[in-house]
Amino acid sequence: MSITVRAPAKINLHLGVGPGRPDGYHELSTVYQAIGLYDDVTATDAPEWTVTVSGSGELDVSEVPLDDHNIAIRAGRALTDHHGVDRAAALTIAKSIPVAGGLAGGSADAAAALVALDRLWDLQTSDADLLAIAGRLGSDVPFALVGGTAYGTGRGELVEPVVDHGQWWWVVVPNDAGLSTAAVYAEYDRLGLGETLRAPEGLFGALADAWPEGLSGELHNDLEPASLDLRPELALTKRDILECGAYAALLSGSGPTWLGLAGDADHAREMAAALASTYPVVLCAPGPVAGAHVVTYA
Ligand code: C5P
Repeated sequence: MSITVRAPAKINLHLGVGPGRPDGYHELSTVYQAIGLYDDVTATDAPEWTVTVSGSGELDVSEVPLDDHNIAIRAGRALTDHHGVDRAAALTIAKSIPVAGGLAGGSADAAAALVALDRLWDLQTSDADLLAIAGRLGSDVPFALVGGTAYGTGRGELVEPVVDHGQWWWVVVPNDAGLSTAAVYAEYDRLGLGETLRAPEGLFGALADAWPEGLSGELHNDLEPASLDLRPELALTKRDILECGAYAALLSGSGPTWLGLAGDADHAREMAAALASTYPVVLCAPGPVAGAHVVTYA
């Protein structure tokens, strides 16, 4: 028997980053949104842990580890350790989320693996335990389980739903050279940018009002200066997105993927067509979408 679980990419509509913590992480005040780009993880009972990875279209998956370092296998081992069971599985990951793009693709894979294995073996892990295991795997993994739009605190692992009445459309412009999240946070520290955190009340209002022009003024990413410092050429993509008519351009997480806020699906497709003359890969995605969910039992 196999089970396939689909998990979404995330973007940060607001990413407020506080000073570094003693554990090496940074305190966050962030608003996540799950968008319609997905990785699918298929889990099949097997005598030992294995992982295979494929990418849709032009997606480069060569940097994804195929050994025990793969976050989906680490998720599987964390789940079996939690339950004290000695089982293993073959995991097959079909990726559509750009790798090292600031879209939390690895976190999506971990969340999908947790749900797939929990169902495969009927472990009936409680939501609270699944979220706690997810949080130990990575700061964005709990959100990949929950999906929708959510406020994230702690190092990002504490998530609570946010009222979001919008049906937002994003143009997604990945970059073929990934950025290391840790390197961007280190640059943030070097630039001395850590600030007092606040809850983004204006953003919460714009999400509840479902008004794109209102949302555009509330999008914010504290990591943008650090990412641009490491990769100054990324500023050109921001300019191109704004020039083709986006309501706002937003760096996704630690980058290098940029997002353009569209008014609706047609506007997103028009902008994507215009940007496709300059950028090899341009995607359109709606948000918010559901978190990790079963798509196939076989
Ligand atoms: O939690 P995750 O493994 O995704 O984080 C990757 C890296 O990003 C961490 O090792 C850390 O350097 C940085 N990070 C951080 N503060 C956070 C989240 C991530 O400094 N809140």
